[in-house]
Amino acid sequence: MARDGAIYVCQACGAVHNKWNGQCTACGAWNTLVEEVSSSRPPGALAPAKSGKVRGGLTFETLDVETPAPPRIVTGMEEFDRVCGGGVVPGSAILLAGDPGVGKSTLLMQVCASAAINGASVAYISGEEAIEQVRARAQRMGLGHATVKLAAETALRDIVEGLKRDAFDLVVIDSVQTLWSDQLEAGPGSVAQVRAAAGELVRLAKKRRIAVILVGHVTKDGQIAGPRVVEHMVDAVLSFEGERGYPFRILRAAKNRFGATDEIGVFEMGDGGLREVKNPSALFLNDGGERSAGAAVFAGIEGSRPVLVEFQALVAPSAYGTPRRAVVGWDSGRLAMVLAVLEARCGLGFGDRDVYLNVAGGLRITEPAADLAAAAALASSALDQPLPQDCVVFGEISLSGDVRAVGRTDSRLKEAAKLGFARALAPGPSVSGPVTVAGATRLADAVRRIGDGDWR
Ligand code: TYD
Ligand code: MG
Repeated sequence: MARDGAIYVCQACGAVHNKWNGQCTACGAWNTLVEEVSSSRPPGALAPAKSGKVRGGLTFETLDVETPAPPRIVTGMEEFDRVCGGGVVPGSAILLAGDPGVGKSTLLMQVCASAAINGASVAYISGEEAIEQVRARAQRMGLGHATVKLAAETALRDIVEGLKRDAFDLVVIDSVQTLWSDQLEAGPGSVAQVRAAAGELVRLAKKRRIAVILVGHVTKDGQIAGPRVVEHMVDAVLSFEGERGYPFRILRAAKNRFGATDEIGVFEMGDGGLREVKNPSALFLNDGGERSAGAAVFAGIEGSRPVLVEFQALVAPSAYGTPRRAVVGWDSGRLAMVLAVLEARCGLGFGDRDVYLNVAGGLRITEPAADLAAAAALASSALDQPLPQDCVVFGEISLSGDVRAVGRTDSRLKEAAKLGFARALAPGPSVSGPVTVAGATRLADAVRRIGDGDWR
């Protein structure tokens, strides 16, 4: 006898039955009927309280209650832990997104192995590679001794059941695009499948307090149903980036419910996997030889750390009617703005010239403080006047042509001094010190200094 109000829905075809059956009479599937409580109310309407009385409903709380910081699983990969906000929070879901081949599987195997060595119970589930491949890679990186449990599986149901059997602290799913749920007709990698798989795993993470890291491939043209749909479901979105041809890889938090989003982790890909770069400040400098016209060293801040990086510009006569603007590592809209300000406020014309701007080392800079460094590199190339070898640059530029002060000037100058720089082209008045600041309040001042070689 069916219980009052209970209906049985076939999870394969959606047919509704009044009583439970081993087989769905509509589609013939076995063991697919699941009990649901039927409701004759329109969707969204509230049921009246059973007793007829109005119950308490919500209980409100105040803000001023002391909440302990969330516990963290410290994996021991310091660059990774820092980007997560000091380790991975149990019960949280993280999406690691990146281009195919950038090194996501490599990074996560190292994270897993390190966490396992630190005592966490860890599983690595690959839907892309066979166990032998995963194992061989781990052994090649010298991680063969770590107690990471491996599985090769793509069936969501089996993965969820498997994860319920053991008490895992950290689980990696590589990748979310390969998973498929037998309850959907869409193929693996489709939006419906990716969303269903991610939803199920996020629920499991919360319920069993497992930290789940999902790998998601992104393609430049966005052809494959991307991890975009997953982004709002997870607690943190980390992106793993790197320019082709450079060994450096940058881990960035694009969203993080448990930490800051401006931290970066820097790695170097080598034969033995990824090496953490703990002090990246000198990494992105093109050292050796004279600094040529068109190069400017930007004293930047990435997250909590200062990073010095070279901006390289080339301004050349254009062979075509529409001059080219190409930029790598910086925002093209920002480049257009800086060019317009240089043209309108400083009299430097770029209308009939091609402009190329490149951030050395494959780093992508988003700080507004980089405006002046880009402008200095462009002006230096346009005027064919190199900046001094020992000079760093930073400052924001406004449309009016003002050079605006930026935060953390002291850290920038200190890092520059540490790396042997003695001058800075920076906002505000000129100040002498370990690093002598040649001040500029207008972009035109800065351009004049570059043109005249005046660094007092
Ligand atoms: P992988 O982690 O498989 O990338 P993803 O999972 O993001 O698709 O890494 C692929 C690249 O990394 C591959 O081109 C080879 C390179 N690699 C190294 O250079 N050294 C190494 O030790 C490893 C494991 C990979
Ligand atoms: Mg991979």
